Amino acid sequence: MECSWKTLLLLVCASLVVQYVALRSFRDSLFGIVMVKIHSLVIVAKTFVPGCESRWRPPCDESWAPPPDGAATGSSSSSSSSSASSGRRHILLFAATRSGSSFTGQLLNQHPDVFYVYEPLFHVWQSFTNASSTCCQRRAPERRELLGAYRDLLLSLYTCQLSFLESYIHPQPQDHVTPALFRRSSSLALCSPPVCPEEEGNAGGGGGGESQAGQPEEAWCHKKCPLLNLTLASEACLRRDYVAIKAVRVPTVGDLRTLSEDPRLDLRIVHLVRDPRAILASRMSVFSGFRAWRIWNATGRQPRYVDLAQIGHTCRDMEASAETGLVSRPPWLRGRYMLLRYEDLAWRPEDKARDMYRFLGLRMEPRVLSWIAQNTNVSALSAASEWHYKYSTARDSRATAESWRLRLNFSIVQAVQSLCNSTLALLGYKQVQSVEELRNLSISLVEHRTFQPGL
Ligand SMILES: *[C@@H]1O[C@H](CO)[C@@H](O)[C@H](O)[C@H]1NC(C)=O
Ligand SMILES: *[C@@H]1O[C@H](CO)[C@@H](O)[C@H](O)[C@H]1NC(C)=O
Ligand SMILES: *[C@@H]1O[C@H](CO)[C@@H](O)[C@H](O)[C@H]1NC(C)=O
Ligand SMILES: *[C@@H]1O[C@H](CO)[C@@H](O)[C@H](O)[C@H]1NC(C)=O
Ligand SMILES: *[C@@H]1O[C@H](CO)[C@@H](O)[C@H](O)[C@H]1NC(C)=O
Ligand SMILES: *[C@@H]1O[C@H](CO)[C@@H](O)[C@H](O)[C@H]1NC(C)=O
Ligand SMILES: *[C@@H]1O[C@H](CO)[C@@H](O)[C@H](O)[C@H]1NC(C)=O
Repeated sequence: MECSWKTLLLLVCASLVVQYVALRSFRDSLFGIVMVKIHSLVIVAKTFVPGCESRWRPPCDESWAPPPDGAATGSSSSSSSSSASSGRRHILLFAATRSGSSFTGQLLNQHPDVFYVYEPLFHVWQSFTNASSTCCQRRAPERRELLGAYRDLLLSLYTCQLSFLESYIHPQPQDHVTPALFRRSSSLALCSPPVCPEEEGNAGGGGGGESQAGQPEEAWCHKKCPLLNLTLASEACLRRDYVAIKAVRVPTVGDLRTLSEDPRLDLRIVHLVRDPRAILASRMSVFSGFRAWRIWNATGRQPRYVDLAQIGHTCRDMEASAETGLVSRPPWLRGRYMLLRYEDLAWRPEDKARDMYRFLGLRMEPRVLSWIAQNTNVSALSAASEWHYKYSTARDSRATAESWRLRLNFSIVQAVQSLCNSTLALLGYKQVQSVEELRNLSISLVEHRTFQPGL
């Protein structure tokens, strides 16, 4: 009889443990942080029994920050914490849409030690926009949730858990295999062995012969390996020392704070900026939503319904990030932030690539240099074909960087200059006062600046 209350207490504790594990695994399957392992049940039971109530924290209480996995279970952290502490480095190419990030991303993609993923946040964004258009119009919380989901996905990818993408890919992958990863072919690692087998039987020496023969064309990758096995991709990721991700959907550097502080990561942020007048010109020629702007450009008269807010947001976000990285320099960002102007890269691609590599602690590779030589020189581009259209990186980088000056009606340039006044000033882009100044390409609009990576 005496032990019955003990049994009862034990039962209560056991049921709490079961609930905790259930909630935890529910949360984990939502956010994909870590699978609940059998041994963690044991650890949880051990830490919970002495004082069930005091250790109890409802999972919903946690912020959207990546949960400190090891911290919750104390001593178990060292065994279960991910491979990040093994010296893998995590690179974020952080930019706004149409600011030259595809081109810049190639400088990372071409390096044999880098596992590069092109804009994986696209899938999250797509899921959210699909959900919000069919469901209720929730405005305010959506942004927070979206940012939280972005950060969770980035953390998972940085720790090589690519299966976390699966909940966002449509149609849902079967057996971890999908044909639908966004722009998969932009990633060399996902288009070469072991992820995509080479038919010729290139005596597999563990990456030695990896597409050394030349860059696999993107169309080639589509044909050769239509299905992507995410398990295999995760394994390939684990074999490389650097994981680099290009992201154009995170608004400001401040939104990356939890990732930067995460002890499992060693994050380096390359903040790519570009003249907002050029960004706008590029968006106008690529995106269908810019019809009003194109009318403005063609007629010289501003339609009443043109959306000025978007480019204004782009400028404010770019400015806020540069402000954080260069001026306020909070401790969590020190040594982790580099500002790179696309124009500088376009003018002097090799020098700037070297600067970026130095900041990232990457050795320069012949493959990267030869990619630069092939893709920044217009006379060497005779083979550029039509499928290279919207996201082409193969072109004369310098001419492309300046072409907006010949393609925008002056009234649009004036409008952007007044919307983005302080952004232009901070980043060293000169405003023009006349059409002559705008069109005369021998007048540079890019002030000479050096942005030292903050230490
Ligand atoms: C949106 O949801 C519908 C129905 O669930 C689905 O058929 C469609 O593929 C989804 N679209 C995107 C862009 O995810
Ligand atoms: C995906 O790759 C893993 C790891 O090599 C393998 O075990 C699995 O069978 C593959 N899945 C499919 C559907 O081929
Ligand atoms: C702007 O467009 C209008 C209408 O086509 C044209 O008259 C004007 O010259 C253009 N201005 C510039 C600077 O391109
Ligand atoms: C560009 O390529 C051409 C032909 O391949 C070569 O002659 C020229 O020197 C190159 N220019 C630069 C700046 O690399
Ligand atoms: C703006 O209009 C000019 C012709 O007036 C055209 O050449 C140019 O391509 C247009 N720019 C964009 C970004 O559509
Ligand atoms: C634009 O910026 C310049 C220099 O930063 C400043 O002198 C000027 O007053 C600003 N103009 C507007 C309209 O904010
Ligand atoms: C362009 O600017 C340069 C330098 O200011 C000047 O010498 C040249 O005459 C200008 N060209 C034209 C066509 O205005």
